[in-house]
Order: sequence, then structure tokens, then C-alpha cells
Amino acid sequence: MSYDLAVIGSGPGGYVCAIRAAQLGLKVAVIEKDATLGGTCLNVGCIPSKALLHTSEMFEVAGHKFADFGIKVTKPKLDLPAMMAHKQSVVDSNTSGVEFLFKKNKIDAVRGTGKIAGPGKVEVTGDDGVTATVEAKAIVIASGSESTPLPGIDIDEKRIVSSTGALELPSVPKRLLVVGAGVIGLELGSVWRRLGSEVTVVEFLDRILPGIDGDTARQAQRIFGKQGIGFKLGSKVTAAKPSGKALKVTIEPAAGGDSETLAADIVLVSIGRRPYTGGLGLAEAGIAMDDRGRVAVDAHYRTSVEGIYALGDVIHGPMLAHKAEDEGGAVAEIIAGQAGHVNYGVIPNVVYTAPEIASVGRTEEELKADGVDYRAGKYPFSANARARALLEKDGFVKVLAEAKTDRVLGVHIVGPYAGELIAEASVLMEFAGSAEDLARTCHAHPTLSEAVKEAALAAWFKPIHM
Ligand code: FAD
Ligand code: NAI
Repeated sequence: MSYDLAVIGSGPGGYVCAIRAAQLGLKVAVIEKDATLGGTCLNVGCIPSKALLHTSEMFEVAGHKFADFGIKVTKPKLDLPAMMAHKQSVVDSNTSGVEFLFKKNKIDAVRGTGKIAGPGKVEVTGDDGVTATVEAKAIVIASGSESTPLPGIDIDEKRIVSSTGALELPSVPKRLLVVGAGVIGLELGSVWRRLGSEVTVVEFLDRILPGIDGDTARQAQRIFGKQGIGFKLGSKVTAAKPSGKALKVTIEPAAGGDSETLAADIVLVSIGRRPYTGGLGLAEAGIAMDDRGRVAVDAHYRTSVEGIYALGDVIHGPMLAHKAEDEGGAVAEIIAGQAGHVNYGVIPNVVYTAPEIASVGRTEEELKADGVDYRAGKYPFSANARARALLEKDGFVKVLAEAKTDRVLGVHIVGPYAGELIAEASVLMEFAGSAEDLARTCHAHPTLSEAVKEAALAAWFKPIHM
């Protein structure tokens, strides 16, 4: 089997790289160890979690919000197997979509675990133990990531679960204890709270969502608290042991001190993800790693071995599907002799809770730390006509612009459809636009996007509707 390009891993990074390379005229093979294509994102990540976030939100709206809109219904009943079947059908349609795109672009999918056997050679071992060699002029490592284990706590994916187990619980746990107030903890904690669980989130730091603008994270925490999620900040879980039908969870203050125990039915460990490099033979191939266990690459995604590239969760940068996808496109272009690149200053970040949290660019904390003179314009959804009609008045849009040039440096939103609203901020920032540019752009009325315009007006001069 001889190709121009062999990609190891069919997640968003790998499959986009393969498709773009095929579109550019290269003969491409993708090696995937799992039964279906699409990687973490399509099988056990973005796609199933968003399906459950949507359906659980519909359940909550029908049960608690319809009455406020003047719609009388009897109390909705949960059909969890049907909800899970919907989730699976969404996953299946997406993974088979990648299969269709591979056929359309004449990409060969090779099933098995790939190991780099030297420059230009990947040894592929199938489930039956039979090996074959794929030869290629260029190799791309797109092997993704896996959830980080918590020392002393054994994940059995039944009672102590990672995100994978939390996406397929067979019944609604009475008490769900989440370790880590990051993206997975808050998204999947929200899913099970809406379906009836009592959710407590234990977080090591004294804040939720590290990395997100502080003001925005504090507002989000207040809203999640009102929804009934309990937070134990500045705390760490040191043990989770079976105790009859329940689990006894030991929690200690992060700074040290007396421990306490909490009973839970399910514990979700979501303390981050780490690069997945098992079985790839990287050390034998002489591929250098960075100080955090990621494959080290230069600005053109080249590893330390000629002809071998890497991208996505297995290299530096945010572990996000769209970041991996954009790198996939860039690497394909570079291998094809073009000038692919990714603008890391404009990678949006969305937490799909209700309300959603979305941001792009720099936070206020980062600007302060770098001594940047900036203006902040903030506009609450409570002043937006469309948000009032939706009964979605919690949250705000914040636009941060450089004081001297008015150039927008960051936009942070907590509120309805924040994940959709952030796109216009990304486009603006990609074109180095100013708060005035955004404020002078005509926005349809009545839309949620008017809140973005008003925040830009506030950063540049003054908002009208406040
Ligand atoms: P992956 O998607 O992890 O794909 C890597 C593939 O490589 C896998 O299929 C693996 O089987 C294969 N592989 C590994 N080693 C080998 C080998 N030796 N041989 C053959 N195949 C191999 N990101 C977002 O942007 N938005 C979201 O809403 C979002 N939600 C998420 C929800 C959850 C619960 C999780 C866990 C993650 C979520 N993410 C989300 C993160 C997102 O899934 C990852 O950033 C993205 O999948 C990374 O893409 P990738 O191509 O680098 O790797
Ligand atoms: P995370 O990095 O977002 O959050 C982990 C949290 O756990 C942090 O707040 C951290 O301080 C805390 N923590 C670490 N060790 C701890 C300990 N011992 N005890 C208590 N708390 C501890 O990681 P998460 O939520 O596991 O998600 C992994 C990654 O997957 C995300 O960073 C993101 O890149 C990706 N993802 C993206 C989504 C999206 O874009 N909507 C959705 C889900 C995942």
C-alpha cells in the first residue's frame, strides 16, 4: 500500500487533513484503530454530548418553562432509552458522513492500530493481530487525546466514570459528584441535573472554568448555582470507595486540612485530557515530545523526524475540535506545497451549558497581566428585546478593545445562543476590526446579536439602549 500521505487517526484533525489533501490531488490513507471514523469528537465527545445537552434542555424547558410562556402541559416523563437512541442516531449519521466523504474523495480507510516503523512507513495491526505496512511520502500523527486519570481513583465506566461513561448512564443517578469544574464537568453535570440528579461539583481551584474570562466565569457560576448545581471550590477528591450501593467520596481542602466525606451514586472524573500516544512507537521513531508529553512540532507542524507531521489534541494548543480541523486543513496545504496556517489568536471557545458561554481572543486578566490599555464595553441580555421574549435575560456580552486603536482584542459572552453569537466577533477579529466597526454594522432587530452591537457601542462610545 503506497500513498502520498498516511494519516494516523480519523478525528476532526485527521479526517479534515485527509479530505483537504485529497482535494489537493494527493493519494491518501487514514489509519483508525476504532470501529467507526470520526475520533473522540464524533463518537464520544462533541457530538453525543451536544445531542444530550439539547434533549435534556428540551426536557427542562417543557417541565419548567412552558407554563411561563402560557403553555399548559402535564409533567413531561423521561424516556431515557429513547433519548440515548436519539443521541446514537446523531453519532451514527455523523460517523457515516465521514465514511461517505472518504469514499467521495477516494481516501482509503485502513482499520487497525498504526505504529510508525520509520520515515515513510506505518505498520498497521488489525484486531485479528495481522499486520500490514502502509508506505507514504508524508505521515501525519492525529491520534488525539484521552481523559486524564485521577490518582487513586479507578474508573470502571459504570459507577466511577469518565465523560465516555457519563454519556451512557443507563438511569438517572440520584446523586452525581463531578470532579473538576471544567467544560466536561459543567456540560455533563448540566445534562444529568436537568434529568433529575442532585449535582455537586468539586473543583481544585477557587473558581470554575479556568482560562475563561473571570467576570464571565463568575456570572456563569451564579447562574448554575441558581439552577441547583452545588460547588465545592478549592477542594480535591482523594478517594472514592464503594459503600453498599453508594460511593463514599473523600474530599480535602486543596490547601490541606480536615477531610470530609460525601455520598454519591455516580462519580464523574473530568479533570482534563492528555495527549494520546500509546502504541505509536514515537520514542523508537525518534520523535521528540515537549515538556507536557505532547508531540513537539515547529510552526509548520513538522516533528523532529523529516516527513512526519502532527496536529490536533496531540500537540500544543487548546483541545478543541475546530482547532484540530483548522490544523488539518493547514497541514494538508503545507504538505501539498502551499502556505497553510492557523491564527491561534482567534479560536473561539464555547461551553454548551444553558446559558452558553462563548469567548474569543484575550481575557481581561490577560490584558491586565500584559499591561495593555483597554476599554471594556458590557451589555446585559436583560436589556435586549429578543432575550426578554425568550425569557433568557441572564448574562451579558463584553467587548474588550485596545484603548489607543479601538481594535477588538477579546469578546466574552454568557447568555442565550452565545456559541452562535461569537462567530461575528471571530470574523471581526480575523479582519483586525475595531469596536466602532462592529458598532456601526447594521444588526437585524429584534435579535440577540444586537446585544453584541450594543457591547461594541459601549466599548467604543456609548450604548443606545442602556
Ligand atoms: P481525536 O478526535 O481524539 O481523534 C483521534 C483518533 O485517532 C481516534 O479516533 C483514535 O482512535 C485514533 N488513534 C489514536 N491512536 C491511533 C493509532 N495508533 N492508530 C490508529 N488510530 C489511532 N471540542 C469542541 O471543539 N467542541 C465540543 O463541543 C467538544 N465537546 C467535547 C465533549 C467531550 C465529552 C470530549 C471528551 C471532548 C470534547 N471536545 C470538544 C474536544 C474534541 O473532541 C477534541 O478536541 C477533538 O476530538 C480532537 O480531535 P483530534 O483529531 O485531534 O483527535
Ligand atoms: P478542563 O481542563 O476543562 O477542566 C478540568 C478542571 O478540573 C479544571 O477546572 C481543573 O482545575 C480541575 N481539576 C484538575 N485536577 C483536579 C482535582 N484533582 N480535583 C478537582 N479538580 C481538579 O477539562 P475537562 O472538563 O476534563 O475537559 C477536557 C477538555 O476537553 C477541555 O479542556 C476541552 O479542551 C475539551 N472539551 C471541550 C468542550 C467544548 O468545547 N464545549 C466540551 C468538552 C470538552
